[in-house]
Amino acid sequence: MAGARIELESLKSKVMSAEDAAALIAPGSTVGMSGFTGSGYPKSVPLALANRIEAEHAAGNPFRLRVWTGASTGPELDGALAKADGIEFRLPYNSDPIAREKINRGEMDYFDMHLSQVAPMAWQGFLGPLDTAVIEVSGIRPDGSLVPSSSVGNNKTWIDRAEKVILEVNRWQNPALEGMHDIYYGTALPPNRVPIPLVKPNDRIGEAYFRCDPSKVVAVVETDAPDRNLPFDAPGEDHRAIAGHIMEFFRHEVARGRLPATLLPLQSGVGNIANAVMFGLVDGPFDSMTAYTEVLQDGMLELMKSGKLLSASATAFSLSPEAARELNADMAAYRDRLVLRPQEISNHPELIRRLGCIAMNGMIEADIHGAVNSTHLMGSRIQNGIGGSGDFARNAYVSIFMAPSTAKGGKISTIVPKTPHVDHINQDVQILVTEQGLADLRGLSPRQRAEVIIENCSHPDYRPALKDYLTRARRDSYGQQSPTLLMEAFAWHQRFVEKGDMRA
Ligand code: COA
Repeated sequence: MAGARIELESLKSKVMSAEDAAALIAPGSTVGMSGFTGSGYPKSVPLALANRIEAEHAAGNPFRLRVWTGASTGPELDGALAKADGIEFRLPYNSDPIAREKINRGEMDYFDMHLSQVAPMAWQGFLGPLDTAVIEVSGIRPDGSLVPSSSVGNNKTWIDRAEKVILEVNRWQNPALEGMHDIYYGTALPPNRVPIPLVKPNDRIGEAYFRCDPSKVVAVVETDAPDRNLPFDAPGEDHRAIAGHIMEFFRHEVARGRLPATLLPLQSGVGNIANAVMFGLVDGPFDSMTAYTEVLQDGMLELMKSGKLLSASATAFSLSPEAARELNADMAAYRDRLVLRPQEISNHPELIRRLGCIAMNGMIEADIHGAVNSTHLMGSRIQNGIGGSGDFARNAYVSIFMAPSTAKGGKISTIVPKTPHVDHINQDVQILVTEQGLADLRGLSPRQRAEVIIENCSHPDYRPALKDYLTRARRDSYGQQSPTLLMEAFAWHQRFVEKGDMRA
C-alpha cells in the first residue's frame, strides 16, 4: 500500500515523483548511490536523471555527474546513465557493459579501488565533497531511522556525508529484511581508530538501521521494483573440475591439521566459478561451516539450505532471480543466520585477518611466478574492477585464485610468462587453480613456483611453450630470482591483440 512504509510524518510531505526528485540533483555534482551487484540500487531516480540528461543534451545543455556507489549496480542506474553519457567519473566498481565500453574508449574516468577503502577515503576527504545521496531503503521508521534493503554497501557513509538525501522506498523489498542488517557506527579515522569488536563471523556489533537526519532528506520516492541480478550459468565441466580440486585441497589440509574440519570462514568471489565451488561444498564432507564474505550468491544459499553452512555475513545479496524469489519467500527463516553489513566491515582487513578467512576469487590470468591479474584484458582494457578481491587476498588465511586454463575458446592461455597488469602480487597468491590442477605456492620461491604452476595449472596446448620460455629465461634473464625475458613476455600478449584473438 502506498505510503505504508513511510512512518515519519514529516517525510510523508516529501513524497514526489522520480522526475521531481531527479530535478533536485545539480548538474556536475557528485552523487552517492546505493547498490551493490544487482541489489538495493535505486530503481527510478537514476532513470529519471538519465532522461533529464538526454533532454538537456538535446537542448544543447549537456551535463555529467560524478557517480559513487557500493559496487556494480543494475541497468537502470549504470546502464541508463552511461547510455545518456551522464557519467563523467565513476567509482569504485563497474560491471555494466555500456559503462565498460565508455571507460575503455577513454570517455569516462573510472577509479577502480579496494571496496573496503571507499568509506574511509570518503571520510578522509580527498574524493571531494558528496552533494547528494540517492539511497534505496525498505522503510522509514517513526524516528526517521531507515530500514536498509538488499544491500548495504556504502549507504551509511553516503547518508552521513551527503549534503542532501533522496530516499527511494521500495515496497518490493521484503519487510522481513528488517533486523537482518548490522550497521556499525564505531569506525573513525586515525588517530582515533579502535579495534572493531567482531570475533565471530555472525557477531552483531551495530544497529539494525541507518541513522538519518530527516532535515537532510529532500525527496522520498516510492517504488515497487525488483532487484535485477543475472542468472548464473549451470556449472560447466571446467568449473566442476576447479571445484573438485579445491575440495581435494581442503580434505588434504584438514587431514594435515592445517584447517579445522569445519574449515574457516569462507569468502567466495563473484561469478560462475565461485558459485560452482559453493555447490561443490554442498556435496563435500565439511559441516558446520561459516561464511564471512562480500556477496551472497546462489551456491552459498544452497549450502545454507543443506544445513552445512550455519551462518553467512555479507554486504549484499547477489542472487539469481530464481534464488532471490526463494529467499524472499522465506526471508524470516534466514534472518538469524544472515547478516548484511557495510562493505567497510564486510571487507575489513583487520576482521579478515582475525577470522582467518579462506578467500576464493576468480582471475583473468596468472603469471608463472603467481602474480594475478583480475581486472585488465591485455593489460589495458578493464573488465570489471578489483572489487573486494584485494581486501580478502592479502589478509586471508588461505588465498585462492581460480580460472579455466584458457580463455576465448582456447585461443589464449590464462597462465602466462608475465601479466601485463598486476592486481595481486605473488606474495598475496597462495593457491592457483585451473581445471588442469592446483598449485600450492606457499613457501615456494619464484623459481619453484614457475615449475609447479606450469606443470599443474597450464593447458597442455600451452605447456611446451611455457616450459621453453622458462628454460630460456633461466639462461638469459638479467636476474635469476624471478627469471623473465622482458620483450618476449609482453610480446606474448601483443600477439593475441594483433591476431585479433581478442574478438569474441
Ligand atoms: N585473456 C583475455 N580475455 C580473457 C581472459 C584472458 N586471460 N580471461 C577472461 N577473458 C575474457 C573472457 O573471454 C570474457 O570476455 P567476453 O565477455 O568477451 O566473453 C571476459 O574476459 C570475462 O571472462 P569470464 O570468464 O566470463 O569471467 P568470470 O565471470 O569468470 O569473471 C573476473 C572473472 C576476473 C572478471 C571476475 O572474477 C572479476 O571481476 N574479478 C574481480 C573482482 C573480484 O574478484 N571480486 C570478488 C571479491 S569479493
